[in-house]
Amino acid sequence: WPVYAPYIHAINRIKKERGAAILAHNYQTPEIYHCVADIVGDSLQLAREATLVDAQIIVQCGVHFMAETSKLLNPDKTVLIPDAKAGCSLSDSITGADVRLLKERYPGVPVVTYVNTSADVKAETDICCTSSNAVAIVESFDSDTVLCIPDEYLALNIAKQTKKKILTWKGHCEVHERFTAEELLAYKQADPTIEIIGHPECHPDVIAVCDYSGSTAGMINYVKDTRPARVLLVTECSMASNVQSEVDDVEFIKPCNLCPHMKRITLPKILDSLLMMTEEVRIDPAIAGRARLAVERMINLKN
Ligand code: 13P
Ligand code: SF4
Repeated sequence: WPVYAPYIHAINRIKKERGAAILAHNYQTPEIYHCVADIVGDSLQLAREATLVDAQIIVQCGVHFMAETSKLLNPDKTVLIPDAKAGCSLSDSITGADVRLLKERYPGVPVVTYVNTSADVKAETDICCTSSNAVAIVESFDSDTVLCIPDEYLALNIAKQTKKKILTWKGHCEVHERFTAEELLAYKQADPTIEIIGHPECHPDVIAVCDYSGSTAGMINYVKDTRPARVLLVTECSMASNVQSEVDDVEFIKPCNLCPHMKRITLPKILDSLLMMTEEVRIDPAIAGRARLAVERMINLKN
């Protein structure tokens, strides 16, 4: 990518001079994922790596809740996000005040909060989860009923894998809610050998027609391990572009849905972020302690 080369070169040089580490989510564009990131992964992997990384400065290439999670786990480090407006429809669907009302309505019911939420919401929660550990986390409670917020579809998909009663919220991912079972079945009809793998933020009817469902890292590993001849990734479209170079023998079919928030992060913004040390993530100390506990409980749970 000659057009990106000067940025890649400059970012890698300044990153070294500053002693910074770049953490990038699997939905970042290939030039970020392959050329400047030190660590790539799904939400759980990035949260875990944030606690292990040596660097004093972390540049989070992902959306705002991911940068907040890194800051929660590294209160003494500088955490930068190249565009603080990189949000998430799930995170925006619920506030800490909403969770307080839910707890009044369902006293004593454990609250499991998807990591795609603000620190304000995490602070009201018993434990966080990601799509890769959600079922294990729900199962870790003795209670017969568990509140799984804010992703309605993730909660319904979890409910299919546990005997517990799952209460939820009406949050949706604006990228994954666009996929329909009809659309996927049409691909399957045209080529019955095609494998369909989907993210659990999709509607349960969509997951029902998938051959596999898992977190973004789970989906990547599935493709690498099983090497389907043709595969349709029911998720954000940079994923297929990022994995393609590692699995030349696999043909990706892309009904391409982009996450506009993830795409706010670009090489020029990463460079600016490192040069000017912006935008620094800060979390209100009044909520940081409780929010950190919810994330740490998730990280420490063996699953
Ligand atoms: P993963 O935890 O699977 O990476 O998902 C994060 C996300 O935002 C998917 O839309
Ligand atoms: Fe949020 Fe959906 Fe974008 Fe993931 S893909 S960051 S859940 S809006």
